Amino acid sequence: MPDTRPRRTFAVISHPDAGKSTLTEALALHARVITEAGAVHGKGDRRATVSDWMAMEKARGISITSAALQFVYRDHVINLVDTPGHSDFSEDTYRVLSAVDSAVMLVDAGKGLEPQTLKLFKVCALRGIPVMTVINKWDRPGLSALELMDLIQEKIKLRPTPLTWPVGEAGDFRGVLDRRTGEFVKYTRTAGGATRAPERRMAADEVDEIDAALWADAVEEHELLGLDEADHDQDRFLAGETTPVMFASALQNFGVAQLLDLLLDIAPDPSPTEGVDGSVRKVEDDFSAFVFKVQSGMNNAHRDRLAYARVVSGAFERGMVVTHASTGRPFATKFAQSVFGRDTQSVETAEPGDIIGFVNAQSLRVGDTVYVGDPIEYPPVPSFAPEHFVTASAGDIGRYKQFRRGIEQLDQEGVVQVLRSDLRGDQNPVLAAVGPMQFEVVEDRMTNEFNSPIRFSRLDYQVARRTDAAGAAALAGVRGVEVLQRSDGTYLALFVDQWRAMVTARDNPDLMLEALPAGGS
Ligand code: G4P
Repeated sequence: MPDTRPRRTFAVISHPDAGKSTLTEALALHARVITEAGAVHGKGDRRATVSDWMAMEKARGISITSAALQFVYRDHVINLVDTPGHSDFSEDTYRVLSAVDSAVMLVDAGKGLEPQTLKLFKVCALRGIPVMTVINKWDRPGLSALELMDLIQEKIKLRPTPLTWPVGEAGDFRGVLDRRTGEFVKYTRTAGGATRAPERRMAADEVDEIDAALWADAVEEHELLGLDEADHDQDRFLAGETTPVMFASALQNFGVAQLLDLLLDIAPDPSPTEGVDGSVRKVEDDFSAFVFKVQSGMNNAHRDRLAYARVVSGAFERGMVVTHASTGRPFATKFAQSVFGRDTQSVETAEPGDIIGFVNAQSLRVGDTVYVGDPIEYPPVPSFAPEHFVTASAGDIGRYKQFRRGIEQLDQEGVVQVLRSDLRGDQNPVLAAVGPMQFEVVEDRMTNEFNSPIRFSRLDYQVARRTDAAGAAALAGVRGVEVLQRSDGTYLALFVDQWRAMVTARDNPDLMLEALPAGGS
């Protein structure tokens, strides 16, 4: 029987160490996990990651591959799509955001808005994804609640609309005032946060003597917030003008149930999606999905290839024959997985909002659409501004054929962006990445999967701007800039730094020099 309960599909965006893994585990604890995946990376004695497809991942103890965790909460099915990436991240981290309907921005109360959070936020803003904010680690000293509200307003230009307000500042946390019901949600510290939600709700007149003074302060601030247009407004939230805020301690399990309730109450449902020709697919129409990530090399024994797709419309049933939009060819879905990781479990049915993995999907690439019924093709998943560049060459010239094939394959999968120019010739492509770890993945797979050792030589560029053929001609020979063409045909002008990019744009006002999405440039 297909599970047709309503869906919530979201991702957590955060900087490393803000508590994403802790929160993910806490969410799963509150819910009934349907399928368990590598969304959680192992740390200490906590549950180890499932996605250790690559030896490299194991060695580093981090999750490079995308994964999704699916669970039931109240009457909903929730899909938490992992945003991979630890101390550095990759284009995949951004791409995952094309598969979600909302995002939770997790902020460390002591650190405020950190660089990776801001980069990921930019991608959400670009795609119009509504963002809810969770201020985490409220159980220990940090910035004041008002300081954090100012930071949000200043750095991401969204109006913070707190749904809860802390009673007691970070480090002296007594609980929160639920601004929608006026109740006190009292927090009781537990050892190691091992037990379920230490939360107790009570009416304002039941607040204990010991919390009374701090409660009065919170009530006063809550009233001031109300005067300052800081109350939740669903339309403004969905329009990307505001971000509802909650205060939590993922480690102590406080605020986790509140977050789940919030997701059900205010996060958007999967919505109708427009194709490149302007036609719109409603969620109840025939099945359609788009691929947002392709993963190979999970198993050295056979060349497997898994394409992760987000269901946009219709019900999916395993065995369905779908049409691959870019080739018009049929694609059999005999092998479809719901669990991403070591345990390959077949998915029998899926609904809009769910993530499915197609096994042995040799023909599917990032951005591809598959559908049943009337043709539909969704817009391509954008590529993001690379900030790291190397030239690549075959480590063993006798294996040049393997080198070429490998680079082509990794390019198609979107593992790195591959740039070329007549000047550099075909043998030394430039590889461009959002995070340097993408080069390590290339090196690992070239060596182990394509049997072609690879040599990199770092290039001093830091900034890429989109240009055109005229720009390429005009900038040829200009110092501090080089124009190359990406395999999708886009011309990219690479600059040694922001300053050089700025000066070039100023001195050549007629040239096309556009910033690319995210990546800070
Ligand atoms: P990440 O996935 O975002 O990188 O963060 P992770 O959950 O691994 O958390 C990073 C550190 O912050 C961990 O400590 C974790 O225990 C701690 N932490 C997460 N949430 C909270 C919270 O609400 N309150 C407090 N006080 N700490 C929190 P660690 O010492 O690096 O790791 P571990 O040895 O405790 O696992």
